[in-house]
Amino acid sequence: MIVNPLQRIRSIKVKFSIVIVAAVVVTLAVNEIGLALNFRAGFRAGVAAIIALGMVQLMARGMTSPLRSMERAATAMAQGDLSRRVSASSSDEVGRLAVAFNHMADELAAEDQHRRELIANVSHELRTPISALRATLENVVDGVVAPDPALLRTMLAQTERLQRLVTQLLDLSRLESGGTPIHKLPFPVVDLLDAVADEAALHSPDMAFDVQIEPLDLVVDGDPERLHQVVANLVENAVRFAPEATPIVLRARRTASHIVLEVEDQGPGIPPGSLARVFERFYRTDEARSADEGGSGLGLAIARWIVELHRGTIRAEQVDPHGCRIVVRLPG
Ligand SMILES: Nc1ncnc2c1ncn2[C@@H]1O[C@H](COP(=O)(O)OP(=O)(O)O)[C@@H](O)[C@H]1O
Ligand SMILES: [Mg+2]
Repeated sequence: MIVNPLQRIRSIKVKFSIVIVAAVVVTLAVNEIGLALNFRAGFRAGVAAIIALGMVQLMARGMTSPLRSMERAATAMAQGDLSRRVSASSSDEVGRLAVAFNHMADELAAEDQHRRELIANVSHELRTPISALRATLENVVDGVVAPDPALLRTMLAQTERLQRLVTQLLDLSRLESGGTPIHKLPFPVVDLLDAVADEAALHSPDMAFDVQIEPLDLVVDGDPERLHQVVANLVENAVRFAPEATPIVLRARRTASHIVLEVEDQGPGIPPGSLARVFERFYRTDEARSADEGGSGLGLAIARWIVELHRGTIRAEQVDPHGCRIVVRLPG
């Protein structure tokens, strides 16, 4: 294959200029030669035009073909085929456009894959409690078991789990689509941590909740309701994993540039390999999965979205000798 002499030029304007100048030079040269050989004007013009056109064809080869292949790929992608890519060999604007096009196609394909996985996960998570409910109801209808209060309570618990899951999914999807704007205002951290601790104590009277704020009048700039949701999610996990009668610490302090909120428990903690992954949707450690304590793996994903909407960060740490600490850093 003949290498296109213009392939390495980075500007399409320069390429066009070179092609035009070359065509003009060839036309003139052919004209001069024709004159010297005493050819007629019409013949000279015809030959010059043919040679110039041939040269332009040769030099401009590849300048527009990426555009055509992008057009075909875009049409295919609009019809749902996200595997199309275009070959980008030149280094001019069209070549760079092709590279950007491929990049966009990669992102779209990844997003599509992500969406499929999410739907698969959601369906799976919904199917489990629904199947359990259905099996129980079938037994009741067939007269195999009597609908006594204990059975009805289990079914109620399963229904509640389903409802919680659907609520969390809706929350997460609203957060991700930007449907829940953050309404920031400065408010005392003590209000936030006390409210969460009081609520948690109501549900788990056997646990001790220890609120530590330094200094006590610490103020955070954030959305009170959303931050409540974050801390409540963290405390809910701590309560579930911590052994009975061990304290759960809700801590707040300030650093030079941040307000740091921490929730700490003395449970088994999160294995080092899972510390980053627990913030992914539906991710639960093997321990949490096998214990099947009713979690869905969405709580920390929601917490991370809210914290990131506040331009903060969230991470999980191990506590010595055992336990889990979730650290939220908010600008402030
Ligand atoms: N305090 C904790 N101690 C031990 N493991 C935890 C703790 N908090 C979270 N995890 C792990 O992170 C996973 C994800 O938590 P989360 O997103 O809140 O989902 P869920 O609580 O529904 O399981 C949990 O399933 C568990 O494996
Ligand atoms: Mg949770």
